[in-house]
Amino acid sequence: MRSVVMVSGSGTNLQAILDAQIADLEIVAVVSDNPEAYGLQRAIDAGITAITVDYQSFAKRSDFDDALYAAIEQIKPDLIVLAGFMRILAGDLVNRYDGRMINIHPSLLPAYPGLNTHQRAIDAGEQWHGTTVHFVIPKLDAGPSIVQYQVAIRPSDTAESLADRVRIGEYLIYPQAIAMLTSGQLKLENNVVYNNGQELAAPEVLHEQENN
Ligand code: GRF
Repeated sequence: MRSVVMVSGSGTNLQAILDAQIADLEIVAVVSDNPEAYGLQRAIDAGITAITVDYQSFAKRSDFDDALYAAIEQIKPDLIVLAGFMRILAGDLVNRYDGRMINIHPSLLPAYPGLNTHQRAIDAGEQWHGTTVHFVIPKLDAGPSIVQYQVAIRPSDTAESLADRVRIGEYLIYPQAIAMLTSGQLKLENNVVYNNGQELAAPEVLHEQENN
């Protein structure tokens, strides 16, 4: 599966995906909106083409969207993996890759779409938090979920300590979900997720304690 990974920052999820050496996954390019993203360096270190579509260099948002679309269109990947890509993607691009674009979001979706998820979960007095791999649809953080990793919030938790534990889960479940896609066992049809031909009514859930 020829894939593009899109990053804006440190790219630790990209690294976890690279390290997992997933069967039938060929990362043909890493694309970033941010020339400073360390994820680009990780790509170069792994011998992968690194492409920057610098958000700051466009006068208009729509010019950035067009340039990003064109950059991806040159590659025509089978799969787009969003790994900490911090811009909301234009509907055209998302629709073009319907069922072939996934994201990892640091909350137990549908709870806490958007930013600052760890602090919001703590402030709300939640017992559980975590991370979700999901298909991408035009609505932000709202596409059908594939797999989640659940973490118990401890009384002593800060946003940072919670984020650290959630990240451990991200590095597990993202490669796992990608492998389910590359093997062909996972599909999205008419907004419904199928795993081995069976409708996946709710995401698979992995718990932190199972990992300890
Ligand atoms: C991750 O926490 C992911 O959930 C969110 O952005 C972060 C990316 O981190 N979408 P990294 O760039 O992979 O280190």
